[in-house]
Amino acid sequence: MITIAGGTGRLGSLVIRRLAQRGLEVRVITRDPARAAHLRDLSVEIVAADVRDRAGIRTALQGASTVLSAIHGFAGPGRVSPQSVDRDGNANLIDAAAQTGAEVILMSVVGASAQHPIELFRAKHAAEQRLMASRARWTIVRATAFLELWDDIMTKPIVFGRGENPINFVSVYDVSAVVERVILAPGHRGGIIEVAGPQNLTFNQLAELQQRVRGKTEKVRHIPRAILRAGAPFSRQARAALAMDTIDMTVDPTPRKAANRPLTEPLEALSRR
Ligand SMILES: NC(=O)c1ccc[n+]([C@@H]2O[C@H](COP(=O)([O-])OP(=O)(O)OC[C@H]3O[C@@H](n4cnc5c(N)ncnc54)[C@H](OP(=O)(O)O)[C@@H]3O)[C@@H](O)[C@H]2O)c1
Repeated sequence: MITIAGGTGRLGSLVIRRLAQRGLEVRVITRDPARAAHLRDLSVEIVAADVRDRAGIRTALQGASTVLSAIHGFAGPGRVSPQSVDRDGNANLIDAAAQTGAEVILMSVVGASAQHPIELFRAKHAAEQRLMASRARWTIVRATAFLELWDDIMTKPIVFGRGENPINFVSVYDVSAVVERVILAPGHRGGIIEVAGPQNLTFNQLAELQQRVRGKTEKVRHIPRAILRAGAPFSRQARAALAMDTIDMTVDPTPRKAANRPLTEPLEALSRR
């Protein structure tokens, strides 16, 4: 039984579809089964649990052979935070998996580190460390920013900050293909796999591509850094936006091209939505 925490999310839903189409037994963990309505056409088991509830998570993992953690607490309903979900919730999942003998595949971020300016990246680092120190068999999949998420965030052509900083974007479909491969192929176990897209793009370039795909020529507006700085003490989104406008978030895609991974070009990924 493959159990997916975060199975209702952007990535988790794609992975579930891939696994269910192969006829594999899949369980989805969600805080609210209503959020799994789009998965009801697939024969998947839906279990209500919150990763912040240690006992509830232990029950939800009964009978699981593999656990995929595709959760995050950066944003979303339920007063989540990277500390409570990505660090402590993942710790609950990892400990429960170690007890029940399930292996763990942890979704993390390229650049996760203890000193990273974005708190989500620090919380992912803590989860990675917890997993590597646990008795559970493990694989960590780190991804760069999901292009489709940012396409949704930038429904209107509004860019946070100057938008001149190059960032690596990857299609969530490519990430789901890699995660499926990790789940199915035992040869991948016990390592850190980084999934990145074929191009680094600035937010200004992404806004231009979106306009091309949508056939629009609207003026791109910017939320100035000064506004982000003013909001930073109160908002983790403002802090992250400032970091994304200033720190190095590029990835050299050359090794990925050599590694026979799916590498959808941003224009193609945006066009097929
Ligand atoms: N988005 C990106 O740019 C990006 C980049 C690199 C890595 N990643 C990683 O990839 C994974 C998937 O990201 P995504 O963008 O697809 O996520 P998403 O669509 O935002 O979905 C988030 C998921 O987390 C679950 N979740 C949040 N708090 C929870 C809690 N307390 N208990 C149980 N479940 C909880 C939600 O489930 P319910 O609401 O149904 O409970 C939801 O399914 C995450 O681990 C993320 O950190 C994402």
